[in-house]
Amino acid sequence: MSARSSGGRPGAASRVTPATGSTAKQYDAAYFEKWYRDPRHRVKTPAEFTRQVEFVLHMAEWVLQRPLRSVLDVGCGEGQWGVALRRQRPALAYVGVDPSEWAVSRHGARRGLLQGSITDLDALLPADASYDLVLSVGMLNYLSAATLRDGLRQVARRTGGVAYLELFAQGDELEGDTDWPRPKPAAWYRTLLATSGFTPLGLHCYVTRAEADRVAALERL
Ligand SMILES: C[S@@+](CC[C@H](N)C(=O)[O-])C[C@H]1O[C@@H](n2cnc3c(N)ncnc32)[C@H](O)[C@@H]1O
Repeated sequence: MSARSSGGRPGAASRVTPATGSTAKQYDAAYFEKWYRDPRHRVKTPAEFTRQVEFVLHMAEWVLQRPLRSVLDVGCGEGQWGVALRRQRPALAYVGVDPSEWAVSRHGARRGLLQGSITDLDALLPADASYDLVLSVGMLNYLSAATLRDGLRQVARRTGGVAYLELFAQGDELEGDTDWPRPKPAAWYRTLLATSGFTPLGLHCYVTRAEADRVAALERL
């Protein structure tokens, strides 16, 4: 599944790949091969992925006003964001969390991945750990409302700088596999993100209310 944000910049594709919500889905070798490497199905070209990583890295460093030191990637899949970010910032501390048994046993030790769900962050991570950047890319749309609500609160508690949270709403133009819960109106997500403690900066970027002073009044939406 992929999505194109119809309300976005002209000609700019925002895409998500298939994730969960359905216990039948298998996040195994075949899944990652199909949606990430097979040119007939993959939803981002290598150039699009690189552009997205560069954008998020530089957005985060602009807000932090220093190089990025730590990243938590929730629903990290194979941890491809960690690989790409470490290429740019070799000293970066990266932790990925994903329920996929296959992805974690295949890549976990080398790439720093822990097996678990967005709702397991409190149990998986040290109590006082927070991160310069928290990512959740191509995953949140597939969660039930209850899981999203619980998960976003846990994500907010771990966000020590900025968060990049890809979410698509009703009216966004979707492509490909649409095996996910019907997206809710944008206002529903805005309310949920606000009650979870996030202040939007646009383009899927957020600061927590505690970190809101990092940005100017007109950078907050
Ligand atoms: C489309 S992949 C995205 C992977 C990665 N974020 C990326 O951009 O390369 C979706 C991932 O969401 C994960 N996922 C599914 N349910 C989840 C949950 N409840 N908590 C965290 N991750 C979940 C899946 O295991 C899968 O690896």
